[in-house]
Amino acid sequence: MAVAERQMRIQASLAPFLRGVMDAVPLIGDPDACDFLAGNPEVPALPGYVETLQKWLEPQNRRWFAYGMPDPRAAEAAAAALADELGIAFEPDDVMLTRGAHGAMALAMATVLDPGDEVVFISPPWFFYEALILGAGATPVRVRANETTWDLDLDAIAAALSLRTRMLLINTPNNPTGRIYPDDTLALLGALLERQSNEAGRAVYLLSDEAYSKILFDGNTMRSPARHYPRTLVVHTFSKSALAPAQRLGYLAMPPTMPDREALRRGAMSASFSTSNLAPDAVMQYALPDLLDIVVDMNKLQLRRDRLLEALRSAGYQVQTPEGTFYLLVRSPNDDEGAFVGRLAQDKVLAMPGSMFEMPGYFRLSITATDDMVERAIPVFEKAISDVR
Ligand SMILES: Cc1ncc(COP(=O)(O)O)c(C=O)c1O
Repeated sequence: MAVAERQMRIQASLAPFLRGVMDAVPLIGDPDACDFLAGNPEVPALPGYVETLQKWLEPQNRRWFAYGMPDPRAAEAAAAALADELGIAFEPDDVMLTRGAHGAMALAMATVLDPGDEVVFISPPWFFYEALILGAGATPVRVRANETTWDLDLDAIAAALSLRTRMLLINTPNNPTGRIYPDDTLALLGALLERQSNEAGRAVYLLSDEAYSKILFDGNTMRSPARHYPRTLVVHTFSKSALAPAQRLGYLAMPPTMPDREALRRGAMSASFSTSNLAPDAVMQYALPDLLDIVVDMNKLQLRRDRLLEALRSAGYQVQTPEGTFYLLVRSPNDDEGAFVGRLAQDKVLAMPGSMFEMPGYFRLSITATDDMVERAIPVFEKAISDVR
């Protein structure tokens, strides 16, 4: 076989995503499409973004684009911002710059996982969790979220933990449910993982994907499990806050309470050499301190969320109110959500079928679409549900 067996397993895990993308590709370029597919910008850039990158593109010394250590100013700024966000005194040496959240998760896994280790992750998941876990040579163990509240199901997580569990991967605010896990749940989760680490005699790490930490509605504040469990590896990205996901920038951070911090710093350093291409490009590193202030307009986003929620509900759709993230999770009026999404696409409204993220019977709408797209799509949503009934 030309391709490694592991890659074949990874391809199988990606099949629903790739199928969905292949279906959507012919529609994405249509200038008349109302595109609710991905958390992608529909405007070229947020105000100030281009100017910031232009400023840092200009070399300030002869080694500007040389091989070297990560930019210390970036780690300092990221640590200070994270300390401010979470109320934890993160240190710059515990911030590892990466290519987005994806790079940060790969770095965390390369640092602490061995072949045969199990990683518990929550379904519905982000598209690439399983691929990342398999790519690290570990075994994915799926646990369903509570299907009524979309909170973590702590009993189910407890039942899934084994002596081989090395990591639990969670995401809050959650894509696709929009749920922010309550502090109480995170505290109980911390206690559970502490018990498990003691009983197993080996640390269980909590990988906390906080990609949407700045995309919070209704005055919500960010709640991280790092406040409750010292062995939390925090994943951050600028893909969502600055709404420029193709300009790769993010980081992995350890709280100061992390046991064996020195060893983990060295482990992350060696992991970054063994897993090439995880560090962001020089210009992104230089720009990081300035990019912290460039954040999507949350007032506008919340108005758009509310407009779409109200219109969908009036038309008869069942839809979650997201507490954070870019996404509305909508129950398909037709159990075959693929057919329903296909029906919407005929009228140039692009939605993501739940089969792409382990939520058959649902579809997801990203409110990174423009207000104009929302207004043009509303009559299509109304007509499509009335056709089903
Ligand atoms: C939950 C979640 N985690 C991680 C990512 C990846 O983020 P990045 O572009 O920073 O790699 C995304 C992007 O869609 C996401 O939704």
